[in-house]
Amino acid sequence: MTGQVRVALGDRGYDILIGGGLLERAGEFIARVRKPRRVFVVTDANVAGSHLPRLEGGLRAAGIAASAIVRPPGEGAKTWDGLGELLNAVLDGRPERGDMLLALGGGVVGDMTGVAASLLLRGLDFVQCPTTLLAQVDSSVGGKTGVNTRHGKNLIGAFHQPRLVLCDLDALDTLGPRELRAGYAETVKYGLIDMPDFFAWCEANAAALLAGDRAARAHAVKIACEAKARIVAEDERETGARALLNLGHTFGHALEAELGYGPELLHGEAVALGMRQAFDFSVRAGLCPPADAARVRAHLAACGLPVALPDSRRWDADRLVGHMGHDKKTRDGKVTFILARGIGKSFVARDAEIGDVRAMLETECAA
Ligand code: GLY
Repeated sequence: MTGQVRVALGDRGYDILIGGGLLERAGEFIARVRKPRRVFVVTDANVAGSHLPRLEGGLRAAGIAASAIVRPPGEGAKTWDGLGELLNAVLDGRPERGDMLLALGGGVVGDMTGVAASLLLRGLDFVQCPTTLLAQVDSSVGGKTGVNTRHGKNLIGAFHQPRLVLCDLDALDTLGPRELRAGYAETVKYGLIDMPDFFAWCEANAAALLAGDRAARAHAVKIACEAKARIVAEDERETGARALLNLGHTFGHALEAELGYGPELLHGEAVALGMRQAFDFSVRAGLCPPADAARVRAHLAACGLPVALPDSRRWDADRLVGHMGHDKKTRDGKVTFILARGIGKSFVARDAEIGDVRAMLETECAA
C-alpha cells in the first residue's frame, strides 16, 4: 500500500487505502473494519470483466461470501428505475443486517450503491472500490450518494458514508485516455480550490500521470483524497466549505443537463469546461487576475480537456441558465457559484448576478 488517508468523522470515520493490488486483498482490509457474513458486490458490465475476479478472489481468501450484481454501464443507468432494479436484485439475495454492499466501479456504480445501502433494511454498511480516477479522487469519498431525475443530477440521494475506500491504482491501467482525462479534471480541481502548489505540481506532472506514471498517480490520488477528507471532515453536510468541491459544477451541470447526460460530454469534461467558465466569469466580475484564468485554460487544454462549448449544436444561454436554476445548490432562488480570486483562491458566491452569467454565456453561445 502506498498511501492511507483517514476521513475523520468520529465513529463514522473511515480509511482510504491507496496502492496496487488492493482488490486482491479486499477481504483482508474489510475484515479489519468488520467481517461481514456476505458482501453484495455491485458493479457494471464493463468493470466486471476486468476486475470482478480479482475482487471475488480477495473476498474468498478472507472467508467472505460474495454475490455479484452486474448493472448496465453509463450515467443513463443512474435512474430511479435503475435504483429499483438494484434494490430488488439485492433483496432477491435475502440480505441480513450484518451484510455489506460493495461498489466496484466508477461514480455511477458508487453513487447508486450508496443510495441502495442507505435504504436497504434502513441502512447497510458499504465499501467503495473505485476503479476510475474520477471516483478515486472524488465521488467515492465523502458519502454523497444519488441518482438522476429528469429535473437534474443527483436530486435523489442521501449522505451515507462508506466504511472503507480501496483505491486500487491497478484499476487505472485499464481506463481509456478520455476517461482518465475526465478524472484528471476532478483531480486538478483541488489545486484550483485552495492548493496552488498542487496546481503547479499538476502543470509539471499531468502528462506523466496521464501517460501511466505510477508514482505520479499515487501522489495525485493521495493529495486529492487528503484534500477531500479534510473538507468533508470540516463540513460533511455541505453547509459551508464543502460547496467549494463544486467548482466548475454549476456551469458544468447545465451543459450536462442540456446534453441529456449523454456520452458527448463526460462529467469530468463538463467540470473542466465549467472550471474554465468559472475562472473566466471571475475575471469578468473583476475578481480574478486574467493571467490566472489564462493559466487554467491553457493547462486544461494541454491535457486534452474541452475548454469551449462543443460545436455539435446551437447553444442557448437562456436554456443553460434555466438548468442552473434546477441545480440543488440553489438557495432562496439564488444559484450558488464557486468563483475564484485566483488559482487556489476559490470561494462560495451566493450573490453572483445571474444576468452577468447569462451575458457571458450569450457570448460563448454566439462564438
Ligand atoms: N463531489 C463533491 C462532493 O463530494 O461534495
